[in-house]
Amino acid sequence: ALVTSEKMLLDAQRGGYAVGAFNVENMEMVKAVLAAAEELNAPVMLQTTPSTVKYGSLETFAAIVTAEAKKASVPVALHLDHGSSFELAVRAIKEGYTSIMIDGSHETFENNIEVSRKVVEVAKPNGIPVEAELGKVGGKEDDLEAEADTNTDPMEAKEFVERTGITSLAVAIGTAHGFYSGTPVLDKERLSEIRKVVSIPLVLHGASGLSDEDVKDCVKRGICKVNFATELRVAYTDGIKELLKEKPDTFDPKNFGKAGMEKVKELVKNRILVCGSDNKV
Ligand code: 13P
Ligand code: ZN
Ligand code: NA
Repeated sequence: ALVTSEKMLLDAQRGGYAVGAFNVENMEMVKAVLAAAEELNAPVMLQTTPSTVKYGSLETFAAIVTAEAKKASVPVALHLDHGSSFELAVRAIKEGYTSIMIDGSHETFENNIEVSRKVVEVAKPNGIPVEAELGKVGGKEDDLEAEADTNTDPMEAKEFVERTGITSLAVAIGTAHGFYSGTPVLDKERLSEIRKVVSIPLVLHGASGLSDEDVKDCVKRGICKVNFATELRVAYTDGIKELLKEKPDTFDPKNFGKAGMEKVKELVKNRILVCGSDNKV
């Protein structure tokens, strides 16, 4: 069933695991993620970035996910990932998204608070939870390239959460979007420090390229939602590439879709196990 992410994340916090949040780009990826979640009996979040929304439209993704979630035996939330403006966040709520991220992390501290608070003001009466980000996650994020990486300051995080009323907080502790050029260096102590002063669920971005151990350790230290994007895109495309290599005459899009879905489903099952969200329904 389609639900909001609020109870899902609080359950994860209480249970000491994280909900996997998977970026989807088309119907096939939606189906593949849900198939994996159903097989492992895991609550799950599907999310789309602004560039994905631009490609497929909010209404279209809301319709696809609503239809697929209705048939699912596990709780499913549809989340706007890295919401880039107040207007987009409001439109997403209107179109049926059940979870919103407003990303003001590129703004000043005060402007970030201002835009996040404004989104909460609209979302809260509608029962929609809001994730915001403080500090900067590295790498290429959707269409935006983060400048110098700035990790989240624990005391700023506490103030930020109090002044915005958000329901989950994305933290910067050294992770980056996309794959890593070297070995990722995570400031896990900082994560534990943030957890000490912030009681709402914490979110880890940039999980593609992290070791299973790093993800598990971060979950132990208070991460309740882990975002996976790049590696799903790669898995989907690898499935199609393999098919084309084996059978270059393939022309039915359904066959490409099936090949991509299989790879995504396998990957997502693996990530759900790493997050520890299997059998949590
Ligand atoms: P990756 O692309 O590194 O998996 O990051 C995902 C993410 O943070 C989406 O918001
Ligand atoms: Zn992200
Ligand atoms: Na990454």
